[in-house]
Amino acid sequence: MKLWGGRFTKETNQLVFNFNESLSFDRKFYKQDIRGSLAHVRMLGKQGIISEDEMNTIINGLEGILADLNSGALDFDHSEDIHSFVEAHLIERVGDAGKKLHTGRSRNDQVALDMKLYTRDEIVEINELLKDLLSSLLKVMEENTETFMPGFTHLQKAQPITLAHHFGAYFEMFKRDRSRLDDIYNRMNLCPLGSGALAGTTYPLDREYTAELLEFDGPTLNSMDSVSDRDYLIELMSALSTIMMHLSRFCEEIIIWNSNEYRFVNIDDSYSTGSSIMPQKKNPDIAELIRGKTGRVYGALTSILTTMKGIPLAYNKDMQEDKEFAFDAIDTVKGCILLFTGMIDTMTFNKDIMENSTKNGFTNATDAADYLVNHGVPFRDAHGIVGQLVLFCEEKKISLDDMTLEEYKAISPVFEEDIYDAISLQTCVDKRLTIGAPSPEAMKKVITIYKDYLSK
Ligand code: ARG
Repeated sequence: MKLWGGRFTKETNQLVFNFNESLSFDRKFYKQDIRGSLAHVRMLGKQGIISEDEMNTIINGLEGILADLNSGALDFDHSEDIHSFVEAHLIERVGDAGKKLHTGRSRNDQVALDMKLYTRDEIVEINELLKDLLSSLLKVMEENTETFMPGFTHLQKAQPITLAHHFGAYFEMFKRDRSRLDDIYNRMNLCPLGSGALAGTTYPLDREYTAELLEFDGPTLNSMDSVSDRDYLIELMSALSTIMMHLSRFCEEIIIWNSNEYRFVNIDDSYSTGSSIMPQKKNPDIAELIRGKTGRVYGALTSILTTMKGIPLAYNKDMQEDKEFAFDAIDTVKGCILLFTGMIDTMTFNKDIMENSTKNGFTNATDAADYLVNHGVPFRDAHGIVGQLVLFCEEKKISLDDMTLEEYKAISPVFEEDIYDAISLQTCVDKRLTIGAPSPEAMKKVITIYKDYLSK
């Protein structure tokens, strides 16, 4: 059924219909559409705009449609959009009372509401998925506060850290992502229903009541803005892009760590794929795909930003273009977080290889310089002296720990026997005690904070 045939004298061209329709994708929020209609109709009944009988008839009809869509007893047809689909079926089922559902409402405030309800539900889900991911990261952290690995800058070995510390960096990122989602939820949580097409309505609607029924903090305060605001979607696409950027960086590291050269980690067989030609291959496809799908989510952000930039107030049909990209980005992010969490849960760590790699990369050079500083050598001179030590070791293909005391003393007489302890991996990590640093002592404090955070 068409909602608007009255003033037309010709049938819609089929291509125009196909181009214009949105049921093929806005069916995704049929539950939210019906939930919104149920709230609207309860308010119409409470305000005496429709009779109590009519209200109950419509409620029953809508609940029946919802149940039948959920069970599959009712299929989507060729309606223009989800709004016309539900209204048409309501009228078919309950007759004239159904024709009153749309009193005091426009599809413009309806779609604004549906999209907000849908987005709100998805934000909650994504937030939970991130929480599960954080629990997985925390488990690795708790088990690895003493697992040494090199920390990198410029992808060159820099200073020793621990696996717990490295994972902790990502814990912070995903924690921020969750708080971004919370912010968006709180900012968008105002109900547009009752804004009509753009200028409110002349019916005595109770907008506070519908807002309350739908668990919003209250009604929106400008009807023009209400029907044409998609800021929250742009914010969400931006937050999702940031989540993907974090996942993608982590994936990039896992791909490197899983490479034949590094072998820091083993991605589980159940999360790897093979090659059709090279029998020896076990590829990190999941990590690569997540890295690749990041582009898709960035695309959604750019797309919605661009769609919105030239739209005069209030509603314009351009806005229908918000949905497919937003849906795709939301589904992509949910899938990626889920897969990534599974990959982390099943991944194993080659702790010996990580530790050896830390020993072999002069990651304790800064600590050797600090040793000199503690013995009265100005830092700039100490830097130069340790530079000479590194040069010496590189020529002999040994590490700082392998040099004899005589060799040390030949470069600087300040060195004594205690240099070995001062530059041992254990000392290098243990001495980094400030909060946020990698020592097991500092990490354990942070882990306690994270546990508390996840328990809420
Ligand atoms: N399918 C439309 C959308 O997604 C619903 C709103 C239609 N409103 C209108 N005035 N044509 O934006």
